[in-house]
Amino acid sequence: MRQRFALIGPGRVGQTVARLLVEAGYRPAAIVSRDPERARQAARFAGRLKAAATDLKKVTDAKLILVTVPDDHLRQVAEKLHRLPLKPGTLLVHFSGYHPAAILLPDDPGELRALAIHPLQTFADAVMGVQNLPGSPCSVEGSEDALPQGEKLVRDLGGRPFRLRSEQKTLYHAAACVLSNYLVANTHAACDMLAACGFSRDEAFDLLKPLLTGTLRSLTTLGPDLALTGPIARGDVRTVTAHLDAMRPLPDELQQIYRVLGRKAVQIARQRGSISKKTATQLLKLLDDK
Ligand SMILES: NC(=O)c1ccc[n+]([C@@H]2O[C@H](COP(=O)([O-])OP(=O)(O)OC[C@H]3O[C@@H](n4cnc5c(N)ncnc54)[C@H](OP(=O)(O)O)[C@@H]3O)[C@@H](O)[C@H]2O)c1
Repeated sequence: MRQRFALIGPGRVGQTVARLLVEAGYRPAAIVSRDPERARQAARFAGRLKAAATDLKKVTDAKLILVTVPDDHLRQVAEKLHRLPLKPGTLLVHFSGYHPAAILLPDDPGELRALAIHPLQTFADAVMGVQNLPGSPCSVEGSEDALPQGEKLVRDLGGRPFRLRSEQKTLYHAAACVLSNYLVANTHAACDMLAACGFSRDEAFDLLKPLLTGTLRSLTTLGPDLALTGPIARGDVRTVTAHLDAMRPLPDELQQIYRVLGRKAVQIARQRGSISKKTATQLLKLLDDK
């Protein structure tokens, strides 16, 4: 028989996880929100309206408690949980890529165990989350004897588990942010630049979208060592000079993005051998100069 679970904080990740676990045959004892309407909406989305709850005590019905609140609130929610009569052997799980699982445990954990499961995936909303999570790698870290259960939980969610040590987490999480969050920030910056050419923001994103999907396709097919194209990969020094001149009236952060990521592009092009050492030096000097 599949396990009962309770979930606290049915936001983007919480609703995704609740829905996928119900689809995998798990039974939700309680889906706890601080807002009754959100609790109902989330429980409906998971397919078990009866699980909607606002009373934190309801989580004591389950031995698997999922805490999907924002990172900065994990400790505070854990302290509330420690005051409840949790069943012996209860497993507390959070989904932060940064905090260690131990943030959920009291100083003297007794029979309580904790895991951190972090999907290397983005959850812009729960509908997209349900599409994106299956097939995604999910790190598992925490109480040694609970790791196999965490790996099974990930597989039941449709994810691919891999183990992570707590001391690896901060840099690991920073890497995920550089890839996902900064790709969004980069796209926003490119829209700013097209807006500076006179396009509306909607037109700008519409024009850029095929380039974005095409780049992702070649990146995921060829990998980051081979997918680079453009003036730096070709060694077109004059084009880069003209770009930097054209960007001078633009806000400093856009110029910085061009320069910093340009230097990374020079490194990739040089390692691949698509530009000479001399061209790389010229480009790096241009990108460094202000
Ligand atoms: N979003 C992503 O792309 C992503 C990816 C991987 C991992 N994660 C991790 O998943 C976790 C949840 O992130 P999320 O993006 O799903 O957040 P979210 O959409 O903001 O949802 C968090 C939920 O927590 C509840 N909450 C907020 N403050 C609370 C408090 N003080 N006490 C109790 N409940 C509180 C809120 O529910 P109510 O208002 O209904 O109570 C809210 O819906 C985080 O640890 C995050 O690092 C997120």
